[in-house]
Amino acid sequence: MPKFKSSDSAANDLIPPRPTLSSLKRAAADCRACDLWKKGTQTVFGEGARRVKVMFVGEQPGNEEDLTGKPFVGPAGRLLDNALEEAGIDRQQTYVTNVVKHFKWEPRGKRRIHKKPNSLEITACRPWLEAEIAVVKPDVIVALGATAAQSLLGPQFRVTKQRGEFIPSTLAPYVMATVHPSSILRAPDDETRRLELRLFIDDLKKLSKVIK
Ligand code: URA
Ligand code: SF4
Repeated sequence: MPKFKSSDSAANDLIPPRPTLSSLKRAAADCRACDLWKKGTQTVFGEGARRVKVMFVGEQPGNEEDLTGKPFVGPAGRLLDNALEEAGIDRQQTYVTNVVKHFKWEPRGKRRIHKKPNSLEITACRPWLEAEIAVVKPDVIVALGATAAQSLLGPQFRVTKQRGEFIPSTLAPYVMATVHPSSILRAPDDETRRLELRLFIDDLKKLSKVIK
């Protein structure tokens, strides 16, 4: 079977001819390019102003994001907000989005547990991310976690080895990957969590050097 490419995604047909962030968001609300629209409450599009300096790309919306329709508003988003503040980066100068825009989950008792998106879903959703990058034109793109990093920088990319490094890419003048804020929340004990948070903030501080 020929490999499914992002140019084959039905999402391409929904992208308006001269897209703006608001027209893209409206169009993405009707996306059915993969099966995840059936699971999620709504499309969670990226958020932030256009022409900001830094774009953060996560994996996919979580429970709170799915319910509110906004990216990074749950526990991981709160950690990101605090870390940005610690790193001296103005949240108003950032755009946050995800490689996949619907919440993928499975039931665990009464809770909805996050399930990793597969490569088909990531590929199907790719046109939205590319359109966001084209409109926002960030100076720096920061991939949060392995899913975003491998989707943006290639399957060989290892966050554990290359976190915090600027990687040459055609996507933006500067591209970096670091851990996902959820991984910090999942640290086995307080000491590890504090250390991981420190390393995350250190990675974010590197952004200040390239955004004037
Ligand atoms: N995790 C993500 O990757 N993205 C969100 O928007 C929220 C949690
Ligand atoms: Fe469309 Fe992405 Fe939602 Fe799939 S996850 S239906 S490609 S918006």
